[in-house]
Amino acid sequence: MLVNLNVTMVPGSSNSFKMVIAGAGSIGSLFAWILAKNGLDVTVVAREPHSNAIMSHGLVLQDRDGVNQGALKNITCGTLPEVLKNCSVLMISVKVHDLEAILQEIEPAFITSQDPPVIVLLQNGLGNERMVERYYPGATVVRIVTSNGAMLASPGHVVHAGRGNTFIGISSKDPSPLASTFIEQFCTALYARDLHVQETSSIQEHVWKKVIINIGINAVGAIFQVPNGKILENQHLLHVSRELVKEATEVAHQQGYLSGRDGWGVTKRVMQTTAKNRNSMLQDLDKGKKTEIDFINGAISSIGRETGISTPWNDAMVELIHGFETIDHPRDQDHDTSGRTH
Ligand SMILES: NC(=O)c1ccc[n+]([C@@H]2O[C@H](COP(=O)([O-])OP(=O)(O)OC[C@H]3O[C@@H](n4cnc5c(N)ncnc54)[C@H](OP(=O)(O)O)[C@@H]3O)[C@@H](O)[C@H]2O)c1
Repeated sequence: MLVNLNVTMVPGSSNSFKMVIAGAGSIGSLFAWILAKNGLDVTVVAREPHSNAIMSHGLVLQDRDGVNQGALKNITCGTLPEVLKNCSVLMISVKVHDLEAILQEIEPAFITSQDPPVIVLLQNGLGNERMVERYYPGATVVRIVTSNGAMLASPGHVVHAGRGNTFIGISSKDPSPLASTFIEQFCTALYARDLHVQETSSIQEHVWKKVIINIGINAVGAIFQVPNGKILENQHLLHVSRELVKEATEVAHQQGYLSGRDGWGVTKRVMQTTAKNRNSMLQDLDKGKKTEIDFINGAISSIGRETGISTPWNDAMVELIHGFETIDHPRDQDHDTSGRTH
């Protein structure tokens, strides 16, 4: 692990660099707070009214048990592409279906700034790095996989809803030295908050592990509108989850990941330890938002098609979730109450 516990960042000193976190919603705001608290020079690009609240009162972090960790006023807010001037490290924390749009927004600024850029992806899903490489062939891509949980309680106020492991690693060949400097400072900042963090040379293994867990839980929980623990209690839901994980594991093995391992045991353990949680796909449907299905189950279906592996359970989940996203849900007064049952 690459961690120097004695490193303290002093903004403006020779070991500081400017970083931008683009798409600072729940998880981006949590990491913005943690990094800025440890002295990194952080600018966020966030939606209104979150951005305005941060500029007026600072960014507040609250622990899961309700303890307020204070408002940080050293986080700057800005808009793309202006904030990328002199930016050395760009962290992107939008939902994965918004990644391509944000890459298009930043492209002109990054092309004219110093190269090669370091782009840090703080997201779930498969294939994200390939998208970045299409726009920035020379960029160093760093990937973060975290099981910490965050939510925005109100504008300018983020809750650290669950503590968990974080893995960070470089996905690119010939990485820029700045990527290692960033990783060292990232790990130091998480250590300072007593959070488990590990640098890894096999970050894709962790990306796949997380995707397999998401495949076993998210779509099933979202379709049946149940918290994670209910899947474990119901033999029918558990059967669907098992089949989804089986297909995804076969695809992972074909791609050279999770060799000799099957993600089913860990998926069931996560259902147990997060039994009361409503997964993120279910929360997205609740809010009428688009889900990340295409980059989770959809990615398995698409690799399956390319490699001749049959993935009928994952294909069905993609269709069902897209059905939920697009159906015009009837309001109560639209229901037929005439008593007919057909
Ligand atoms: N939250 C967690 O606990 C957690 C934990 C682990 C991993 N993750 C993963 O992290 C990623 C982000 O999740 P999240 O929960 O933080 O999502 P989120 O709360 O929706 O945050 C993303 C933010 O980015 C904004 N955004 C999208 N496009 C933008 C653009 N072009 N410019 C500026 N802002 C833009 C979104 O605004 P709009 O909504 O208005 O588009 C939203 O405020 C996902 O892949 C998720 O699976 C999340």
